[in-house]
Amino acid sequence: MAELSPDQVAGNWSAIASEYEQAFEGLSAQFAEHALRLLDLGPGARVLDVAAGTGAFGLSAARAGAEVLATDFAPGMVDRLQARIAAAGLPGMAAEVMDGQALALPDASFDGAASVLGLIFFPDQDRGLAELRRVLREGGRAAVVCWRDPANLPLMALVRQAVRKVVPGFQPPSAPPVWARLNGDSLGSRMEAAGFREVEVLTSTATQRIHSPEAYWSGFTRSAPPLAHLFERLGPETTAAVGREYIGALRAQSRDGVPTLTVEACIGLGRA
Ligand SMILES: C[S@@+](CC[C@H](N)C(=O)[O-])C[C@H]1O[C@@H](n2cnc3c(N)ncnc32)[C@H](O)[C@@H]1O
Repeated sequence: MAELSPDQVAGNWSAIASEYEQAFEGLSAQFAEHALRLLDLGPGARVLDVAAGTGAFGLSAARAGAEVLATDFAPGMVDRLQARIAAAGLPGMAAEVMDGQALALPDASFDGAASVLGLIFFPDQDRGLAELRRVLREGGRAAVVCWRDPANLPLMALVRQAVRKVVPGFQPPSAPPVWARLNGDSLGSRMEAAGFREVEVLTSTATQRIHSPEAYWSGFTRSAPPLAHLFERLGPETTAAVGREYIGALRAQSRDGVPTLTVEACIGLGRA
């Protein structure tokens, strides 16, 4: 079996749940909202969120009146999400620790399901897609969100550029990241291969205005396991220097003084 990358280890996601929510959920929540609109689930629908993280999709679905089960393999993410469910007073929503490649759930038990930038990390993504399909009732619909063009993700290009400026000999990993294996080119055919029908793939754009780049950067360095791993290796002084470069580059591309990140994902929709 291939060695796991840092973003395939549950403990690494558990350790960064609050930074993930602070720095990244502003973007992923926009894809989640878009996916929810496209799924067009009625009130009372039974909905599953796979690799839910801090719960953007599931929380929106529950607020819209769905009965939601959110699952994630990282206990730290599930703890954070359970606290949010309690704070929001959503009796129709629950969160459980579960590997999305082996859902401990009966066949045909949900009307709708989604995995927003979650299933992309699974060692066996096709197994994850097949599990999503298995738990849907006949006619139920799923939405799977991945990056449209992972090799050119502006978020990561900015980080690479800033690190290279501060550490000129820096060698990024030679292998493409695990999450690049599912993308805008492969999503539709892989959903069909997993048994989904009426598959369509749409592009979704999310924009985040960063009013305090310094505060954003402090969470960003730990907003995903590979970033946390990289900046732990570089140490605090180099990380601070990379941060100054990163913030400078962000500011340089802002039109009205507020740096803005724009990213594109694909949403694959399919019916069971
Ligand atoms: C980038 S976050 C996405 C979280 C959330 N869906 C969102 O849109 O904000 C990726 C999530 O996938 C989860 N994850 C990764 N591998 C998993 C697996 N095999 N089973 C379940 N969850 C997994 C991680 O714990 C993490 O919470």
